Amino acid sequence: MRKTTLLYGFIAALCWNACGKSTHEPSPKEPPVVDSRSLREQYSSSWDQWPKAEWYDGVTAKELAALPDNPSVADPALITLGKALFFDNRLGNGGNSCASCHNPETYWHDQKKVATGIGTHHRNTPTMENVWYLAGNLFHDGRATTYMDQIAEAIESPIEMGGNLETLPWALQQIKGYTPLFTQAYGDAHITKERILEAIATFSKTISSEATPFDAFIQGQYSALNDQQLSGLHLFRTKGKCINCHNGPFFTDLQYHNLGYAVDWDGKLDHGRYEATKQETDRGKFRTPGLRNIANTAPYWHNGEIATLHEVIDLLNRGMPHTGRQKVNGKLSELVRPLQLTAAEQQAIIAFLQALSSDVPQMEKPVLPE
Ligand code: HEC
Ligand code: HEC
Repeated sequence: MRKTTLLYGFIAALCWNACGKSTHEPSPKEPPVVDSRSLREQYSSSWDQWPKAEWYDGVTAKELAALPDNPSVADPALITLGKALFFDNRLGNGGNSCASCHNPETYWHDQKKVATGIGTHHRNTPTMENVWYLAGNLFHDGRATTYMDQIAEAIESPIEMGGNLETLPWALQQIKGYTPLFTQAYGDAHITKERILEAIATFSKTISSEATPFDAFIQGQYSALNDQQLSGLHLFRTKGKCINCHNGPFFTDLQYHNLGYAVDWDGKLDHGRYEATKQETDRGKFRTPGLRNIANTAPYWHNGEIATLHEVIDLLNRGMPHTGRQKVNGKLSELVRPLQLTAAEQQAIIAFLQALSSDVPQMEKPVLPE
């Protein structure tokens, strides 16, 4: 039984290559390569032995991977200073701090559709977890290439914190408690814009998510995913095609794609990546978000327009139809195609996404300098 199946598969693979066809979309006439082992048997081995993922033509194959160690090493005194600044609601003009929107108690997210600071933002707040990995691609459109530029914008943005970086060093000098923090971090008490930004960037890059059931599974604990979650992992890599964009250890290719749904709450169109590059082909594209702790950071999309994971999968399954007032800005990605996932298969993918959750971050808030 097993032998015939293998032979069958071998012949199929031969014809496949000989015909010179793409292996991504087998024509229905060709016999599928059948592996008679259970899904659990097929996945109970190191990841390079897993069933083949279904890659679209032109996509660089990059497998999923376990959570890597955070490589950001920094002087603890600089991190302490950065942490105080991150939680300090005196940096801007609106009484809010970075942590008001990037709240550690809710996975460094605000659980709002769009951020609210001094004004109402048109974008959904991204989590701070694993931002070290986003180097060069910060914000939903990747317009900030350095952490310092990105943080300067957060502080000065009239809808986020409304601060003034030119006068901020002076303002912090008036808070005596900052003198020892700057001295320990920099050797002297001199406060500059660059030091403020560098310290916050340094602290930001230390924020990581924790290991998840998926990490235990890929590292050899094959009971860490239940049957439904395992089926979801398989669908994520095959019929669901998610791995084409959500790949690597953080489930993102760090590329920009147009998935539609570009209308903001106030009816305006978001131009996405076009804002950063001014290239027409980038209009309406957004960075593929990572998916660690995705079940804990609803609502979804750059504009927060999609409320639940169920809704995300349903829309992707239907090839991102334009519901309600939503529409595409620019050209919908060719990698968005109807998937024909059954209700049970969609549920399995959601169960897998839930297995990418780690515990609520344990971050003790600092005592703010007086
Ligand atoms: C009013 C809420 C709010 C405040 C306050 C705020 N942010 Fe953000 N943050 C956002 C939103 C919204 C975005 C996405 C903006 C965009 O894509 O244009 C963002 C993006 C980011 C990103 C990029 C993450 C990614 O996935 O690309 C980082 C890092 C970040 N903020 C750090 C900070 C720091 C540090 C501070 C304090 C100096 C801060 N933020 C203050 C709402 C806020
Ligand atoms: C063509 C690349 C591509 C494919 C294929 C794809 N995604 Fe995405 N995904 C993205 C991009 C880009 C976004 C962000 C869209 C936006 O904000 O406009 C996104 C957003 C999401 C979000 C919301 C994330 C957040 O923080 O708001 C989830 C969940 C998600 N995708 C899951 C999936 C699943 C599950 C599949 C497979 C069924 C899949 N995606 C297929 C590129 C892709």
